[in-house]
Amino acid sequence: MNHSLTHTALKLTRRLRRLRRTETMRALVRETRLTPDLFVLPLFVCEGEGVRREVASMPGVFNLSVDEAVKEVETAKADGVKSVILFGLPDRKDDIGSLAYDPGAPVQSAIRAIKRAAPDVLIATDVCLCEYTDHGHCGIVIDNEIANDPSVEQIVRAAVSHAAAGADIVAPSDMMDGRVGAIRHALDERGFEQTAIMAYAAKYCSAFYGPFRDAAASVPRFGDRRSHQMDPANSAEAMREVEQDIAEGADIVMVKPAVTYLDVIARVKERFQFPTAAYHVSGEYAMLKAAARNGWIDEPRAMLETLTSIRRAGADIIITYYAREAARAIAQS
Ligand code: PBG
Repeated sequence: MNHSLTHTALKLTRRLRRLRRTETMRALVRETRLTPDLFVLPLFVCEGEGVRREVASMPGVFNLSVDEAVKEVETAKADGVKSVILFGLPDRKDDIGSLAYDPGAPVQSAIRAIKRAAPDVLIATDVCLCEYTDHGHCGIVIDNEIANDPSVEQIVRAAVSHAAAGADIVAPSDMMDGRVGAIRHALDERGFEQTAIMAYAAKYCSAFYGPFRDAAASVPRFGDRRSHQMDPANSAEAMREVEQDIAEGADIVMVKPAVTYLDVIARVKERFQFPTAAYHVSGEYAMLKAAARNGWIDEPRAMLETLTSIRRAGADIIITYYAREAARAIAQS
């Protein structure tokens, strides 16, 4: 090709590559930044003492007894991660999930212990029955159906007991109708008007929760979660879910999973202009870990690219098992 000809033929007034020439230039025009402030680290709290058991399908994630959970929070804080969300693994389960609102259960004990050791750490709690029911469903099962209103009653009890133990945020993940309003009402009645609600508003029935159910021993014994979690094909319906939770008093709304629902995150943020969380779920984490362990991807880059894309889509808060690793990577860059 004739070089000088090509050169004179191109009369470009805009050369978009100018702003990509050096790292300093790229940093100057960068639109999306990650900071550890927006990360929330999930922790799985179990019974016992000195327990630190790695979840097979989630390298780097552990079932932790309360004392170990406190240590984990302290090291996370040193990494720059100051928010956690707690899940409970009770020793005993029953058909109504009564350990979900037992003041001596792992989550409630962990809240008190963490608040004693690190009062400035923000504690959110996942509110659901699936970890507490012997059948593994998110609610009360009557005639093979997950009965909405009786389930909400139990979920409200769990939320109130987390607030009473000192949780800053309760996060209902059950997807029953009306639970946000019922929780708000019950919290206010008992003097917990400062406890915030982060609603798992658009929570999809996803294959990507697989490893979590390993970690939390919450695989349903029969059936699935399709009668309450959303159909992955729907996004207008997600707007109705979010609208409803906001109307009922949610302070933060969540989309879950994250990467396969970036369009939903963007739509929710744009439409409601509300604090919006995205949950980068267990399966999304496990896929990156598995590929990295095989040497098929560059893990730090893939991790940061993934979290950046969630942020770019509009998430204000990212719940991720990568919180600590990402915070360390950001600090080094
Ligand atoms: C409880 C709950 C689940 C997750 C968060 N809260 C599991 C489920 O709905 O089956 C999934 C989190 C993850 O996969 O990382 N209902």
